Amino acid sequence: EVEEHRIPLILDLQLHREDRGGHQSYSPLLYTEELAEFEKLLDQVKISEGALKTDGFGENPFYHCLVAEIPPESREPQGSTVVGYGLYYFTYSTWTGRNVYLEDIYVMPKYRGQGIGSKIIKKVAEVALEKGCSQFRLAVLDWNESAMDFYKARGAKDLTVAEGWRFFRFDNEAMRELVRM
Ligand SMILES: CC(C)(COP(=O)(O)OP(=O)(O)OC[C@H]1O[C@@H](n2cnc3c(N)ncnc32)[C@H](O)[C@@H]1OP(=O)(O)O)[C@@H](O)C(=O)NCCC(=O)NCCS
Repeated sequence: EVEEHRIPLILDLQLHREDRGGHQSYSPLLYTEELAEFEKLLDQVKISEGALKTDGFGENPFYHCLVAEIPPESREPQGSTVVGYGLYYFTYSTWTGRNVYLEDIYVMPKYRGQGIGSKIIKKVAEVALEKGCSQFRLAVLDWNESAMDFYKARGAKDLTVAEGWRFFRFDNEAMRELVRM
């Protein structure tokens, strides 16, 4: 077990780091796939690594990413120093203006319960406030009680319960159908 004081977290824009000091690079997809697997939705991962990189680190980034890293000397056997991440982007509400949306938050199982997840959402809240956002939103699968408890304990409100919102999506096929209508 890695103790809290041994985890000087780098919470920063670091997904794409082949260029960083000769450290072994890692695959952003590895982490998104771990989260998808946890959510039992791995079959929904269709993105390529190239798209993830272009979309996060190209000219007009579609998202921002925070990573939690352990020191190189405590790296995982497969070479990874990144043990968790949070991925967010900005959205807009005509009622409240600028908002931030946390798309993913994931901490590898053996590093959970040490405050890494808390630091990630704290950092997202800091960024949101700095950028003048009035809300910080996210969605949780209904069976993920521990994640819901985690957010509630930190002050988030369950909007499905409080206001009855439900979550909708047009899949690619549905969009194609829509434009043909
Ligand atoms: C949700 C998640 C990001 C939290 O990360 P974390 O680093 O464990 O977060 P923290 O250590 O700051 O807090 C976790 C809470 O669970 C408790 N906890 C203790 N041991 C734990 C363990 N082994 N695993 C998970 N949580 C544990 C902590 O005490 C803390 O409780 P608190 O809310 O009363 O303070 C992480 O559990 C995770 O990656 N889960 C799987 C993916 C997931 O569900 N993502 C969210 C999708 S919406």
